[in-house]
Amino acid sequence: MDTNKIKVIIDDKEVEVVRDTFLLKAIQAVGIHVPTLCHHKDLTPSGTCRLCIVEVENGGEMKLVTSCNYPVREEMKVYTQSDRVMKHRKLLGEMYLGRWPNVPAVQDIAKRCGATDKEKFRSELTDENPKACILCGHCVRACDEFIQERILDYAGRGIKRHLTMPFGEVDPHCIGCTSCAYTCPTGAIEIIDDINHPDNPKLIRDYGMRINAEMATLDKSQNRMREVGTATIVEVMDAYDLLPVHNFKFGCHPDTPKIDSAVLKAKYFTQNHPDGCWKGCSMACSKAVDGFELKTGPYEGQKVIVDGPEYENAGACANMGCFDGDFVVEWNFYCDTYGVDTISFGTTMAFVMECYENGVIDKNVTDGKALNFGAMDEAMECLHEMARGEGFGVEVGQGVRWLKNKWIKELSADADFLQDIGMEAKGLEYSEYMCKESLAQQAGYTLAVKGPQHDEAWLIFMDMVNNQIPSFEDKAEALYYYPLWRTWFSLHGLCKLIWNDVVPADNKTYKPQIAAKVPGHMEDFFKFYEGMFGEPIDEKSMLDQSARVHNLERIMIRMLGYGTRKEDIPPYRAVGPVTEEEYESRAEKYYDKQMKENIGIDPEGKTTQEKMKIVRKYRTEQYNKVVDAAYDRRGWNRNGVPKIDRLKELGIDLPELVEIIKDDQESRTFK
Ligand code: SF4
Ligand code: SF4
Ligand code: FES
Repeated sequence: MDTNKIKVIIDDKEVEVVRDTFLLKAIQAVGIHVPTLCHHKDLTPSGTCRLCIVEVENGGEMKLVTSCNYPVREEMKVYTQSDRVMKHRKLLGEMYLGRWPNVPAVQDIAKRCGATDKEKFRSELTDENPKACILCGHCVRACDEFIQERILDYAGRGIKRHLTMPFGEVDPHCIGCTSCAYTCPTGAIEIIDDINHPDNPKLIRDYGMRINAEMATLDKSQNRMREVGTATIVEVMDAYDLLPVHNFKFGCHPDTPKIDSAVLKAKYFTQNHPDGCWKGCSMACSKAVDGFELKTGPYEGQKVIVDGPEYENAGACANMGCFDGDFVVEWNFYCDTYGVDTISFGTTMAFVMECYENGVIDKNVTDGKALNFGAMDEAMECLHEMARGEGFGVEVGQGVRWLKNKWIKELSADADFLQDIGMEAKGLEYSEYMCKESLAQQAGYTLAVKGPQHDEAWLIFMDMVNNQIPSFEDKAEALYYYPLWRTWFSLHGLCKLIWNDVVPADNKTYKPQIAAKVPGHMEDFFKFYEGMFGEPIDEKSMLDQSARVHNLERIMIRMLGYGTRKEDIPPYRAVGPVTEEEYESRAEKYYDKQMKENIGIDPEGKTTQEKMKIVRKYRTEQYNKVVDAAYDRRGWNRNGVPKIDRLKELGIDLPELVEIIKDDQESRTFK
């Protein structure tokens, strides 16, 4: 027996509900209507109008309760039409009708309550306006729960109670999101202008409200983006061996709990108000730290506000081996203040640290700094040096590719080793996901137009955490589909995070490959497009629209002298273990297992070096195979250049574009 389920008998109809389900939901589930006024399906019940009263019997006791906010916690009998209920309901109906006789929503409710007498409660409070405010409070809760603002609220007491903005004036903080108007049952709040002039604003609002309601109700149980932002995945990445540690050597660390979301929330995040990219975002995943006292740099001793930290900031610190909350926050502040990208700097610093630990560089190069993993003071000093334009920090600021080339040339460093551990492609440093075990993410990173950044193809979660693209074919298809999908919604100003960080409640009913697309949110996005432009769009047209832009981007890069397969090659560390230490740390879980099961070679009796060679050959082949498949699917040749036929298909075979790629049409074999 499921002890979480409770039996309820409602007017002789039996139903089982999950503990703490509000009674109104159970009543509606058996198809019985009870009138409601202050209830809204997507808002927290307030229990103010009293219209939803029913009579419940348990333990022989009968009592009247408001069903919308009454949680079911024990077996009970419920009477929705008892004499007592009907008497109270009628009285309430008459009172509402007396006060707002011409509001259609009230007339409808009164009718359902059997109340027809408009005069009985007529008084000086009677408002004849058919669009009068009936004090249901939807607007107050919509503003608070969807947008996390408190622009509207009740003021006055008793008969003077009314809805208002602060001090009865138009609040400049109102962003005009229209959530209040959308949920208002009477039309008391009117939308008088829509500055973007969409073709069908109602369609946009209908679907926008679906997303708002999901954020308000589902985020807390799914991802807690409103509560802790993207920092929520620090511990997830660690648990799945995906958190980059020590220049992407490892995927987890025993000290991760020192910088995970629990620590950031408990010790640092102080601003419990919405902080999104734009005001009105119902996810508002940004977080901030107030009154943080800096220990270093030009603002030492000052208390400052820090924007963040977010996952990538904490991930970059793990990559440098710096597991300390104060460091994460201070380093984040100074990167922001100096205008330095935390990802590029973190990944470069991690590379520098590995080079230092391996003797590639020494204190003569680092201006006396011992840059081992975890050297927080020294790493911070490099950041300050970079900003001051002096010392070794200036060199760190040039990035991984520049440092690699310099040290190979000037220090005769082992070029193969530096190529293997220098985590950059196309000149851009890798963002903070350890992708060795995710073939999809390996290619997702390198095939991304701007280099290994997570914006275009963040496949690691669906590949490794949700296991939604298990087969080789699934991964290859994902490398076609997701960059286009993400390009499409980026082009339209829509955010990735509301697409799949919080998903509709029914998303798990789809099979994994479909669930990964989050069909409910694709529909929302397509409806936004239709509401804005006045024409419907489907998946195929979306992919074609996006492919035009994506191919154009690839050709533009080609025009700059890049954009071929050569630039899509990752450093080996992104694909497999470079060092013995790395191999051994995950031998049993991944590498020996893979050798036995996928390659068909028994690792028993082989040295680590021998095994590394075998695994490297296999993983490199797999990588090249998935890139071939992705190129084919994208309509690119084996050299990674769009085929002219593909441009024709997309209607972008313009002479000036064809001119750029016409000499690259031969599909070269790649080793
Ligand atoms: S328009 Fe939006 S922000 Fe303004 S009061 Fe209504 S719900 Fe609040
Ligand atoms: S303005 Fe509309 S939504 Fe707000 S309390 Fe009045 S009737 Fe309800
Ligand atoms: S709907 Fe339950 S009290 Fe208003």
